[in-house]
Amino acid sequence: MDFTDVIKSRRSIRKFKEDIIEDEILERIIEAGRLAPTWANKQGVRYIIVKDSSLIKEIANATTQKWTENVPMFIVVCIAPNKSGKNMNNLEYFTVDAAICMEHLILAATNEGLGTCWIGWFDEYKIKSTLSIPEKVRVIALTPLGYSKYTPREQNRKPIEQICFSEKYGTKIKF
Ligand SMILES: Cc1cc2nc3c(=O)[nH]c(=O)nc-3n(C[C@H](O)[C@H](O)[C@H](O)COP(=O)(O)O)c2cc1C
Repeated sequence: MDFTDVIKSRRSIRKFKEDIIEDEILERIIEAGRLAPTWANKQGVRYIIVKDSSLIKEIANATTQKWTENVPMFIVVCIAPNKSGKNMNNLEYFTVDAAICMEHLILAATNEGLGTCWIGWFDEYKIKSTLSIPEKVRVIALTPLGYSKYTPREQNRKPIEQICFSEKYGTKIKF
């Protein structure tokens, strides 16, 4: 797919067909995460592929979102904060590292014709105990992965003039 088409066609998908994703495709999607930039190239982000139906059930329960019960698989993205760093303003970068990797893999999945949905609302303790994630590792996000059961509708986005300024904050820009 053309890059712009990938960006434009990505949507959060919340209903999936039962089809299982071939490992070859899955590997290409994780590869996109692997190639993402991270703080000082520390590469602390880890991915857990969950296909087991009883684990899927437990993860769905941890999200408290009913629609997540019927997904063919999950990818869980996590990182140990000490495997990233801070900037000179003390801004922690571990969530940024994980978010970039997550978006890389989401776009790669879109390119493969697959649906995803960033899930940020979950009980981290439950997910960690379900997946035996070490104490010092934080779960940043997860996504189901599968073929969409429907054509998603377009989402509203603010116009560029409202979010982008010229030279100084608040100064209008014209493209
Ligand atoms: C940080 C973050 C957390 C999110 N958490 C959830 C979530 O827990 N459950 C959910 O259904 N969607 C979640 N979403 C998806 C957003 O609702 C969705 O991206 C937004 O409504 C725009 O729709 P689109 O992705 O189809 O463009 C999350 C998105 C982001 C970026």
